[in-house]
Amino acid sequence: MTPGPVEADPRVLRALSMPILGQFDPEFTALMNRIMSMLRELFQTSNQWAYPVDGTSRSGIEAVLGSLIEPGDKVLIPIYGRFGYLLYEIAERCGAKITVMEQEWGTVFEPAEIIAAIRQHRPALVAMVHGETSTGRMQPMEGIGAACREADALLVIDAVATLGGVPVRTDEWQVDAVIGGTQKCLSVPSGMAPVTYNDRAERKLNARKRVERGLWAEPGQSAASPAASLPARIQSNYLDLSQLQDYWSPARLNHHTEMTSMLYGLHEGLRLALNEGLESRFARHRLHEAALTAGLRGMGLSLYGDPSCKLPVVTCVSIPDGVDGEKARSQLLDDFGIEIASSFGPLKGTIWRIGTMGYSCRKTNVLHLLGALEAVLLRSGHPLPAGEAVQAALQVYDAAAAD
Ligand SMILES: Cc1ncc(COP(=O)(O)O)c(C=O)c1O
Repeated sequence: MTPGPVEADPRVLRALSMPILGQFDPEFTALMNRIMSMLRELFQTSNQWAYPVDGTSRSGIEAVLGSLIEPGDKVLIPIYGRFGYLLYEIAERCGAKITVMEQEWGTVFEPAEIIAAIRQHRPALVAMVHGETSTGRMQPMEGIGAACREADALLVIDAVATLGGVPVRTDEWQVDAVIGGTQKCLSVPSGMAPVTYNDRAERKLNARKRVERGLWAEPGQSAASPAASLPARIQSNYLDLSQLQDYWSPARLNHHTEMTSMLYGLHEGLRLALNEGLESRFARHRLHEAALTAGLRGMGLSLYGDPSCKLPVVTCVSIPDGVDGEKARSQLLDDFGIEIASSFGPLKGTIWRIGTMGYSCRKTNVLHLLGALEAVLLRSGHPLPAGEAVQAALQVYDAAAAD
């Protein structure tokens, strides 16, 4: 029960073991097309482009930022936790001129603050995290996309922690590119990064394509030297979205050798998510969050961070004074077989982070964790009202069942 990677659904694990097909086998390319169509539903978009980049989630971030940021582009990055710094680091490597906004950890930005900064700095691109796994907070998106359109900036969001667990409304929020994760709310192993982007983003990355402009050097020839006014070429071959989209298009231009088995797993994970129904899936994540938080409060523990912007799929708990947080985590794992996470940077040693994501987000897990944590805390000498936690969670489940 960490904030990722979480247990893979057994049906996904089974799909991973299917026989390998060639990457241009019609059965396989049909599966690729179905993945694109299912990803569009998940990202709530009508974008043409929705496909996975091979590599962990940050490969999707590198592909998107590396394809959309030209050296010297002005980029605005609002940061409210650790993964905002990852966006900063990647944008910096792309040669961006970055303006950072920082918010105290445990809170998020008022959208109005970000909108004012967009109007002031007029960036070419705004990159931000939707669900910050490090602090368990979720950034409201209202109005930010519209402000980016007004300023002619592209808006990119990291929805690695949220995709499949809470709504990611790509089109409604006017987000130009979104990066998701597989190892969290989709319950597919780590190793792919679903992305989507619209035609505003595509225009930018296509303008940086060299092949179509005749600037590609054949062996033994020298490449025509690009005119100074041409946009800079995308640096990475592996993570060049203009080449990846050609591979995912009906043209099927050869790029890398597709990760066949991983796509089987992703296909199954997407099928399960959409069969459950997105709204029911979001409601399931909300229900188990409510039961978990009721149980933790019932045990007398305090939740970390501003409750008004809590990320439903990650619950951060303040480690009580006098309790050795790492020892308690080891006991949970060794004695009860339950893994929860520690934390990063300024929060190290002060909070535990509990994930309720995808297949791991279920009643038995929540109740087992609450019972086990209570036992571990009592054992460490921490006083608490024994029995209250599980009862408080059961109360939430009973009330939901009676609804
Ligand atoms: C919000 C967020 N963004 C990006 C990443 C990086 O993902 P990965 O470790 O899969 O490259 C993570 C990983 O936990 C994350 O939680």
